[in-house]
Amino acid sequence: MAVGRADIKIYAIIVAAGSGSRFGAQLPKQFCRMKGRPVVMTSIERVREAVPGVELRLVLSEAFIDQWAEWCREYGFASPVVVGGGSTRWESVRNAIESIPVDADRRAIVMVHDAARPLLTPEVATGLIAALEQGYDGAVPCVPVVDSIRRVFPDGRSEAVDRSEYRAVQTPQAFRLEDLREAYLRPFEPAMTDDASVMEAAGRSDIALVDGADCLMKITRPGDLDIVERML
Ligand code: CTP
Ligand code: MG
Repeated sequence: MAVGRADIKIYAIIVAAGSGSRFGAQLPKQFCRMKGRPVVMTSIERVREAVPGVELRLVLSEAFIDQWAEWCREYGFASPVVVGGGSTRWESVRNAIESIPVDADRRAIVMVHDAARPLLTPEVATGLIAALEQGYDGAVPCVPVVDSIRRVFPDGRSEAVDRSEYRAVQTPQAFRLEDLREAYLRPFEPAMTDDASVMEAAGRSDIALVDGADCLMKITRPGDLDIVERML
């Protein structure tokens, strides 16, 4: 089942302005070919399928805006509205929020999603929207941590922690537009690695954890693209 209540507008921001330094390929990972075309095309298509009627913003670094238009012609792909990115993920998201009309429906929902997680499922999208409808400040997909976890101190010592107390967090992350807009008016802090952390810094900390999915893993290091491609 796909989400989408006809009466509530849903925006999705897909951030694709990173350089993919850990992935280490010539092209940023979101433009590398997966089943023959740029990864980000699958990311966009999956959001369109999981959230019918969604209004998309695609965030690209200025250096790739012309190249993207060319790829869209080459692959016969309909591009969403494109927004210029920034030097951090936070800045890229902020630019996209600023591109959404200020007079947008106050009840509108916004989902922020990494282009490097191409395989969104309708089940995850449905879970996120349902949590917002229950009144949470936000909703994020999570999966259990599989590795043992150690906490490392500044002096280099470390200690084992109970991994059952932790979750790995994925995207898309969903919020009410007006709350997210307000949260992104505050200054950037290095600990803001996702959107839920930005909301928390603004005092909106009632974040629902919904079931994520293995296939929503982020392409980060060499080899990850092959793993995701096999799951496709
Ligand atoms: N992103 C972005 N703008 C930035 C940095 C990141 O839009 N200035 C996007 C990436 O394109 C990616 C998502 O945020 O889809 C998650 O970031 P990450 O996995 O860290 O991607 P990169 O920053 O590109 O990779 P790395 O950190 O290895 O350089
Ligand atoms: Mg990064």
